[in-house]
Amino acid sequence: MLKLFIEGGMQSLESALSHNRVLEKTELEHAYALLGDRIELTNYSNRKVVHQFEIEFCNALANDDLHGVATNSCTSALKIALLALGIGAGDEVIVPGYGYISDASVLEEIGAIPKYVDINLKNFCMDIESVSKAVSEKTKAILFIHMFGFSGNVIAVSKLAKKYSIPLIEDIAHGTVINRLGNPRVIHGDAACFSFNQTKIMSAEEGGIVVFKRITNALKGKSLVDNGFDRQLGHFNGIGYSYRMTSFQAAVLLAQLANIHEKVEKWGQNYEMYYEMLSSFELFATPYNKDDVIIYFPVMVADPSQFDNLNWIKTMLDFENIPFMNTNDEVLPKYLCNDFNISVLKNSEIVAKSNIKFLLNESIQMEIIEGCVLALKKIQNRLIGNTPE
Ligand SMILES: Cc1ncc(COP(=O)(O)O)c(C=O)c1O
Repeated sequence: MLKLFIEGGMQSLESALSHNRVLEKTELEHAYALLGDRIELTNYSNRKVVHQFEIEFCNALANDDLHGVATNSCTSALKIALLALGIGAGDEVIVPGYGYISDASVLEEIGAIPKYVDINLKNFCMDIESVSKAVSEKTKAILFIHMFGFSGNVIAVSKLAKKYSIPLIEDIAHGTVINRLGNPRVIHGDAACFSFNQTKIMSAEEGGIVVFKRITNALKGKSLVDNGFDRQLGHFNGIGYSYRMTSFQAAVLLAQLANIHEKVEKWGQNYEMYYEMLSSFELFATPYNKDDVIIYFPVMVADPSQFDNLNWIKTMLDFENIPFMNTNDEVLPKYLCNDFNISVLKNSEIVAKSNIKFLLNESIQMEIIEGCVLALKKIQNRLIGNTPE
């Protein structure tokens, strides 16, 4: 009989192995080679390596003629995307009820009015029917979040946005420039934002980029990230922010971009391994997609009568030494607006109440995945008692 550690059983992982994403020596060497022996410290307009990164990142995507604006984070990129597309105070923006806090906070920060819609349980992204119902003459933009890297119904949402001439922004913080098959990613929105923070597929510990379809938006974006400096006029012209990417970040990211196929392949292999081992579990469920690059492995408690046990499950995983991401997943408006009618976000609430994110990256050893599956087996045994050993 499999026992949990606190019941006298063995710990699933004897020691917490390092599971952080790492920058490999080869990536650092590649980055140094790009920077050269002497690094000239320049203002944003003259950062050649940053400019090179913006161009190469856009070239790696499927669309022709995209324009990149590198930033210090994806949160900044989201804000720049909205502002450069002309979204501001009082404008209504459709956004999913389940996502990351940045998406809600940047809307609040610029004074936009978030119109929260529900997600689809098959992919954790905004549900096309909820979006169709929410669109009105007040809608000034749609913000589509590719949660976990799922593409969801982005094509249907982009068709709807085009039909009503509403700008679409994609939050692709969890995704990258190619899909699992190695094909370049198609950008469906007028702008798309990526994150390079410490958990992401390409990472300089921090960083982001927004890619625009129109050059006019990109020029506005470049000025906004650089304190309002307008390169064409040669002086400051309106408000802006200090959201610039450094040459060091750009060099690391260029090195990783050159290696992106290998990274995605390893990430995909780890994803498949988790999925294969966990798909037969009764207590836990996970959406699956063979084409999308999934960045964290999402596991949901499948039985609503067990939702109240989520915190207990997380505590047991801690006892078993299992690394997982303990970010408080929440229905976004709960963080920010007290008077929101949460009942329309049924699926968002289900995912927030039932979801655990396991680490998935190229540095994750097989041992971690096996330890994680064994721990979930013990937990399932304890809660519903019928897991074959
Ligand atoms: C969906 C989503 N959007 C935006 C962000 C913000 O990214 P950053 O940390 O680069 O600001 C994150 C962060 O992980 C995220 O998960």
